[in-house]
Amino acid sequence: EPIAPAQRPDDRPVEAAKGRLQTSALLTTAQGVRLPDTDHSLKAGPRGPSLMDDFHLREKITHFDHERIPERVVHARGAAAHGTFTAYGNAASATKAGFLQRGRETPVFVRFSTVLGSRGSADTVRDVRGFAVKFYTDEGNFDLVGNNMPVFFIQDGIKFPDVIHAAKPHPDREIPQAQSAHDTFWDFVSLHTEATHHVMWAMSDRGIPRSFRTMEGFGVHTFRLVSADGETCLVKFHWKPIAGVHSLVWEEAQIAAGVDPDFHRRDLADGIDAGAPFEYELGLQIMPDSVDQTFEGLDLLDPTKIVPEELCEVQLVGKLTLDRNPTNYFAETEQVAFHTGNLVPGIEVTDDPLMQARLFSYLDTQLTRLGGPNFTQLPINCPHAAVNDNLRDGMHQTAVPHGVAPYLPNSLGQEGEPVPAEASEGAFVHVPREVSGPKVRESPASFSDHFSQATLFWASMTEVERSHIIEAFTFELGKCFEQPIRERMLGVLANVDTDLCSAVAKGLGLAAPGGAPTAAAVTSPALSQIITVPGPI
Ligand code: HEM
Repeated sequence: EPIAPAQRPDDRPVEAAKGRLQTSALLTTAQGVRLPDTDHSLKAGPRGPSLMDDFHLREKITHFDHERIPERVVHARGAAAHGTFTAYGNAASATKAGFLQRGRETPVFVRFSTVLGSRGSADTVRDVRGFAVKFYTDEGNFDLVGNNMPVFFIQDGIKFPDVIHAAKPHPDREIPQAQSAHDTFWDFVSLHTEATHHVMWAMSDRGIPRSFRTMEGFGVHTFRLVSADGETCLVKFHWKPIAGVHSLVWEEAQIAAGVDPDFHRRDLADGIDAGAPFEYELGLQIMPDSVDQTFEGLDLLDPTKIVPEELCEVQLVGKLTLDRNPTNYFAETEQVAFHTGNLVPGIEVTDDPLMQARLFSYLDTQLTRLGGPNFTQLPINCPHAAVNDNLRDGMHQTAVPHGVAPYLPNSLGQEGEPVPAEASEGAFVHVPREVSGPKVRESPASFSDHFSQATLFWASMTEVERSHIIEAFTFELGKCFEQPIRERMLGVLANVDTDLCSAVAKGLGLAAPGGAPTAAAVTSPALSQIITVPGPI
């Protein structure tokens, strides 16, 4: 027999290999060598020392030793599901984003989380919940990295390490705040009155959701939409749960945390397994774009403010259905990397200083958490759109790029090398906007109203909801052992509502400080009208 001619090597050997991973019916090493036994190390005699010779023992133990990666610095505790987003099409006049065009179906991966607890913490603690959605659109990945509350504790991202340091477990004992001393959290928020509105949400029933199925989600910041003809508008994103908004009561949350710390993630996985998908509608509050980026006297760049639905209705533009559990927790839920900078043509960010810091933070933290710059190649992060970048090399590179000139322009171009796209070919072209001003470390004057919307929130609550808020403040401040901090916090509550302040002071056995009547804090004329009308926001 003549020797067969050499086979043409596979053009994409690594791609081909990836397809074969975890497919052998027989146990192998990571190198594909079949193994007869994985229960006994190779020894010099049955009672002798183990041998360096044992490549299987060394590989198995070494890999195990490196199984853990750093948990997320915040939002470490999470649970996730796959699903589909279907657009109704009515947003098409406001944005050219392809996934919002009528009838378009886009695969999504959604990760819910608590903010403060570690990976193994309980689900039903009082906390903000993350609601992060990755849309695998055919124009690239769009991540809507939101929370279940529409506002945030701080107005400038430079304070994010501070608020998280104050709220994380105490540095000396590493005991989570929820069950022990709360001094640092209350110290921080009583000294940063911009946190008041978010604290009201966190102390309300929204802080202990019944299920991920019954949580609203919010993009929090104001975004900018760009239509096909270049018109822009400002927008707030909302997720409305089809099952309605429901919470636990505090006693249920406490019992569930002990009896079933996996209460929410079990509910997500079991619900999907039982054929009961988790469903939400995406809603948009659309406001005119303007030079000062305000609406009805509200500064849209201030993430401690909502736009009341009485002033701007939420228009539903599509449906999210979560109906498939992850196959592997680590590969998907742990390794997914959301980033506020993952945008598609038709959706831009605004100059909100909290958002601007986030644009830096997510990629930066993921470089450490996921071991270098190539984590977009992990299956869960991989765009469904075709990719051809000039990024090269780095840790965990698994792509095999074409060509010899990974820069543009080049005069050596070879087949398969990328060329820049035009706007007409779907390129992301930033809308030109004037930016000018002195270089200063200052907030705008409009950021100094810290209480009017906290009062608005309180005014919108029913009696039962108010009693839950009073009980939550009383319980949580009861764990704050520094008397001056408690008193300072009562002073903050006096600016929200004098009845709230008095009730909490009574619960703590303290005298209520005199507080300014709430309406005095209202700066927006439109808002003052709403405050006098009780009812849901
Ligand atoms: C993670 C939301 C503010 C830094 C997350 C996650 C969510 C979220 C949902 C979890 C993502 C996941 O499930 O993997 C928000 C919202 C914010 C906010 C709604 C305010 C409106 C900030 C700010 C910073 C920040 C101001 C920093 C300047 C981080 C970091 C992570 C994270 C470092 C961990 C990401 C990772 O390891 O992959 N955030 N966040 N966040 N956030 Fe934020």
